[in-house]
Amino acid sequence: MQVTPWNTYQNRREFLNKMIKIGAIASIAPSQLIIAKNNRHFLSQTPIKSAQNYNNYYEFSTNKEAVMHLANSFSISPWSISIEGEVKNPLTLSLSDILDLESVERVYPLRCVEGWSMVIPWKGIELRKILNQARVKTTAKYVKFVGTYRPEEMFNQRRKILPWPYTEGLRIDEAMHPLTILATGMYDETLSKQNGAPIRLVVPWKYGFKSIKAIQKIIVQKEKPKTSWNMQIPSEYGFYANVNPSVAHPRWSQSREVRIGELRKRPTNPFNGFKNEVSHMYKNLDLELNF
Ligand code: MTE
Repeated sequence: MQVTPWNTYQNRREFLNKMIKIGAIASIAPSQLIIAKNNRHFLSQTPIKSAQNYNNYYEFSTNKEAVMHLANSFSISPWSISIEGEVKNPLTLSLSDILDLESVERVYPLRCVEGWSMVIPWKGIELRKILNQARVKTTAKYVKFVGTYRPEEMFNQRRKILPWPYTEGLRIDEAMHPLTILATGMYDETLSKQNGAPIRLVVPWKYGFKSIKAIQKIIVQKEKPKTSWNMQIPSEYGFYANVNPSVAHPRWSQSREVRIGELRKRPTNPFNGFKNEVSHMYKNLDLELNF
């Protein structure tokens, strides 16, 4: 079967969206956007309702259906993000500064470490755009992402279920990869609070817990950052967390996944389907040890 390469597809979708915006062609219903990414797997979008009422956001609740209600009163305006550490030009960007940057639209599968997945159309900016604006020093090796600490609004932060604020990290090359985005919208809407408004990370080849919500600080650093899940249970949640069907979680297999809305499990793809785009970054790494 002849299949459209991923980059061509993405460029084509961005082009189509531009054409739709300027009225050059009629709008295409999202359900018609069936994407051939490789010859076995097709991405059809998860209904927006499922993406908005089945959420992992431990600051609010460990009950996926409760998150949307509890996040409702979280205050997201005004908002700014600081970019600091090993950079020549430290920045504080308001949300509107970020919304002014060149945006991208990406349809990515989100594979949770728990064994379920969704396909979500995101809108955002490539993270490398703001890292380049901050002028990363050559001494930089990692990037740390710090979430929000507001126990008066995020009630679960009064409990010690995770080290707060929620913190994540990437290696600098992962952070600079064009697939890594900061999302501000999904399904052609502003990002909902339960999905990480006003701004969250999306790293599509890694388990969903790397994609931290409600980011406040991005710190470029020399040292590998300590991350919330890894600190909490290091034997179960590694720093890399690349989607890998051949490395089982200590308590369950990762070889298959349930796509939300489907009945039968489907096989999990290495790097969540982005092997061609990202595997070169790990060629000198033992992916079983560095899970
Ligand atoms: N970010 C924060 N701040 N807090 C969280 O609990 N959960 C992570 C990730 N980002 C989480 C977070 C996990 S485990 C997953 S699977 C995804 O968010 C879920 O994203 P979604 O609710 O948009 O589907």
